[in-house]
Amino acid sequence: MSDGALREELELLRDIGFTHLDLDAARARVGPPTVVAPASDSTVIRESVVAPSGGQSDDAGAALAEFAKSIAECDLCRLASGRTQVVFGVGNPSARLMFIGEGPGRDEDIKGEPFVGRAGELLTDIIKAMKLRREDVYIANAVKCRPPENRNPEPDEMEACRPYLMRQIDLIQPEVIVTLGRFGLQTLFERSIAISSVRGQWMDWNGRRVMPTYHPAYLLRNPAAKKDVWSDMKKVMAELGIAV
Ligand code: URA
Repeated sequence: MSDGALREELELLRDIGFTHLDLDAARARVGPPTVVAPASDSTVIRESVVAPSGGQSDDAGAALAEFAKSIAECDLCRLASGRTQVVFGVGNPSARLMFIGEGPGRDEDIKGEPFVGRAGELLTDIIKAMKLRREDVYIANAVKCRPPENRNPEPDEMEACRPYLMRQIDLIQPEVIVTLGRFGLQTLFERSIAISSVRGQWMDWNGRRVMPTYHPAYLLRNPAAKKDVWSDMKKVMAELGIAV
């Protein structure tokens, strides 16, 4: 690894909450150094980790774009009246990894893209620390319109929006879903589950692997919890075949 790449990796780890590196423990865990693929192979490796190649991606992309258009004027719940726009979702239409958050905030409502505010920057750092890019994964929310004053989404709003998320999952077919905070989890499993009771444990949802973890906004308030999220993301990386 070049000095620049090493610096970037260390800065990411710092941004997601690491305060020190225990080199002795790391050496004991990894054993002697191994030969790694040359840099020129890394794109190929990453792409095989990220998504299947070829037509499937184009088809899913076109279907998602068409679906996004079809719900742009949605008025199934009261959130329609306060939004600037429907915040559909963003990312690779054939992503193997999908993140599900809560709902758009002010920045997302204006930009029309999920997770672009402060919590979004942290999510992007987490994705990078997983050796992926934002555009490799898919990011969506439990509700697609901004709740007023950033309040929590109401159960009937989540219920109205749920079929949209289901359709996205159906088109994207992610192998792994990471739910961020309690509302992503609640909308998938259609019941309220205490995040503290399941965080970091694999769950099964219709044959898909689901990893519940904390919401990045919670991490901004409780930086000490970043190490828990990183431990959860390492499980996701292992599941996707990304070297940790
Ligand atoms: N929080 C979320 O849950 N989703 C967003 O898109 C932004 C912040």
